[in-house]
Amino acid sequence: MKTAILTGASSGLGLEFARQVHSVFPEIQSLWLIARRTDRLQALAEQLPGLTVKPISLDLTAGDACQRLQALLEAEQPEVELLLNCAGCGFLGDFDQSDLTEQLRMIDLNIRALTAVTRTVLPHMPQGSRIINISSIASFVPNTRMSVYSASKAYVSFFSRGLHEELKPRRISVTAVCPGPMATEFLTVGKIAGNSATFNRLPYCDPGKVVRGSLLAARKGRAVYTPRGFYKLYRVLSGLIPHAILVHAAKT
Ligand SMILES: NC(=O)c1ccc[n+]([C@@H]2O[C@H](COP(=O)([O-])OP(=O)(O)OC[C@H]3O[C@@H](n4cnc5c(N)ncnc54)[C@H](OP(=O)(O)O)[C@@H]3O)[C@@H](O)[C@H]2O)c1
Repeated sequence: MKTAILTGASSGLGLEFARQVHSVFPEIQSLWLIARRTDRLQALAEQLPGLTVKPISLDLTAGDACQRLQALLEAEQPEVELLLNCAGCGFLGDFDQSDLTEQLRMIDLNIRALTAVTRTVLPHMPQGSRIINISSIASFVPNTRMSVYSASKAYVSFFSRGLHEELKPRRISVTAVCPGPMATEFLTVGKIAGNSATFNRLPYCDPGKVVRGSLLAARKGRAVYTPRGFYKLYRVLSGLIPHAILVHAAKT
């Protein structure tokens, strides 16, 4: 069965991907939704008529997460046309005062889990299928007070670009999506809301529009998608101006 696998499906961008995926990829018949909050996944499944939905309760930072995913893949043998790596978190605060558990959680979820899920799912992806990895504008320039987060997203963007090239013979594209701030639970989970003047000033991205643009960019096989003209310009400037200068402006 033609399947999309979506991590981080219980809220924010992931929830929106679940709702919109069929409008751009009508060939998808089945949707595997991954997150920890099963009640939310089950409620979402009921809102998606016409798709066979499989809610999967999985903590992606758990040591056995990918073994469990692999067991499901081997048992059900889906044809994974689309992999959406959306689960992620970002904690704001001075690194030397930070909670080490939170700092390591960003690495475990944003880097380790995304890499492991991709490697686990790839053998089940046929020629012409698509991967979307959610990166961030934080991948363009290092962000103070979010140094680990921005480094983790730089990893996501670099990994995605490299893999996009590497998978060309299989005609599988990897799209790194680099949105600016969005009003999702991300801001409260990461203690960003109300604690960053930069986040208060920046233009926000609409999750619905980000998802639509990401799906269309993946359909076209694009390597990078940055929503909003303001952030497209920022991406270009980050390639032209030395980071030693930009790192001051990119302070969170
Ligand atoms: N919002 C922004 O300002 C912003 C900007 C740029 C990029 N991004 C990126 O966009 C992506 C989506 O974030 P969002 O804004 O939609 O935030 P969100 O609403 O907080 O969603 C995060 C998702 O990740 C899941 N998740 C968290 N920890 C998990 C774990 N250990 N195992 C499995 N799933 C886990 C959450 O589900 P459970 O809690 O149910 O597990 C939730 O579904 C992230 O990669 C984020 O870095 C966000």
